[in-house]
Amino acid sequence: MPMRSLLFVPADSSRKLAKAGGSGADVLLLDLEDSVALPGKAAARNLARDYLVSAMRGAGGPRLYVRINSLDSGLADADLDAVLPARPDGILLPKSGSGRDVQHLSAKLAVREAECGLGDGATQIIAIASETAAAVFQLGTYAGCSRRLAGLTWGAEDLGTDVGALASRRGDGTLTSPFQLARSLTLFGATAASVPAIDTIYGDFRNAAGLRAECAAARRDGFVGKMAIHPDQVEVINAAFTPTPEDLARAQAIVALFAQNPEAGVVALNGQMLDRPHLQRAQRVLGA
Ligand code: COA
Ligand code: MG
Repeated sequence: MPMRSLLFVPADSSRKLAKAGGSGADVLLLDLEDSVALPGKAAARNLARDYLVSAMRGAGGPRLYVRINSLDSGLADADLDAVLPARPDGILLPKSGSGRDVQHLSAKLAVREAECGLGDGATQIIAIASETAAAVFQLGTYAGCSRRLAGLTWGAEDLGTDVGALASRRGDGTLTSPFQLARSLTLFGATAASVPAIDTIYGDFRNAAGLRAECAAARRDGFVGKMAIHPDQVEVINAAFTPTPEDLARAQAIVALFAQNPEAGVVALNGQMLDRPHLQRAQRVLGA
C-alpha cells in the first residue's frame, strides 16, 4: 500500500478530524504531541480513540496512525493506554533517539496488544528520527531494531530548537546545510534499515509551487512520501510521489531491454548507459 502522503491532524480538533478522512491522504497522523497544548492532552486522547473506533477502516480508506508524546515526556503510556484498544494501524514516535527507542516502544505495544486481544506486532511504528542533535548521530541504528518499523522520517523544528538555529530554511524556502544533512542521513538510515524514507513537512502551506518543488526533489533523492500539515497539500504530494505514465513507460522499456539481453550486464537506451542498478530502479518503479 502506498505511503505517499501522511497528514497531521491535531487530535484536539473535532473539526479537523471530521475534515481529514476526505483529504485523500494515504495515512492520517492523529496528533497528541506538539499540536496539542498540555491542558488538552486528555481530551485529545479521547477524540483520537473515538475517531479510530468510528472511522471506516480498510477498503481504500487512509491508514490511521497516532503520534504519541515522546517516551521521555511522561505522557506516552497514557497515550498508548487510550488509543491501543481502538487498534491504530501504527504509532508515530516523535523525538526518537535511536533504534533502541523503537525497541522500547515495541515492548510497550506488545504488552498492550496482548491485553487488548490484538495480534503481536499488529501495530506498526514510524519514527521521527532527527529531532535532536544527538539523535542525528544515531540515524544508522534503526536496521533490525523491530519488525514493526514501517518508515523513518525527520523533523526540522525541534532539531532547530535543540541546536539554537534561527531558521532552518533560507529566504527562498530551501533548507540550510545543517538541515539538509539531517534529511540526507534520514534517507540513508531508512535505506540501511530497509524501510521507506519519508520527507518532513513543508510549513508554508499556501505555497503549492514551493511544495511541488520540494516533493520533486525528495522523490528524485529516494524519499517515497512526505508528511503534510494541511489538507490542500495532499493532492500535490500524492501526484508528486506517483510515477507518471512516462516514468512507467521508461521503466518498462528498461526491464524489457534487459529481458531481451539476458547475458548483458550493460545495455544502451536512447544514448544512455544502463546497468544493474538502473534495472533495479526500474523494477522498483513498476512495483516488482
Ligand atoms: N487536518 C484536517 N483538517 C484541517 C487541517 C488538518 N491538518 N488543517 C486545516 N484543516 C481544515 C480546517 O479546519 C478548515 O476546515 P473548515 O473549513 O471545516 O473550517 C479547512 O481545513 C481549511 O483550513 P484553513 O482555514 O485553510 O487553515 P486553518 O487556518 O484553519 O489551519 C493550521 C491552519 C496550520 C493551523 C492547520 O492546517 C493545522 O492545524 N495543521 C496541522 C498542524 C500540526 O498538526 N502540526 C504538528 C505537526 S508539524
Ligand atoms: Mg515537534
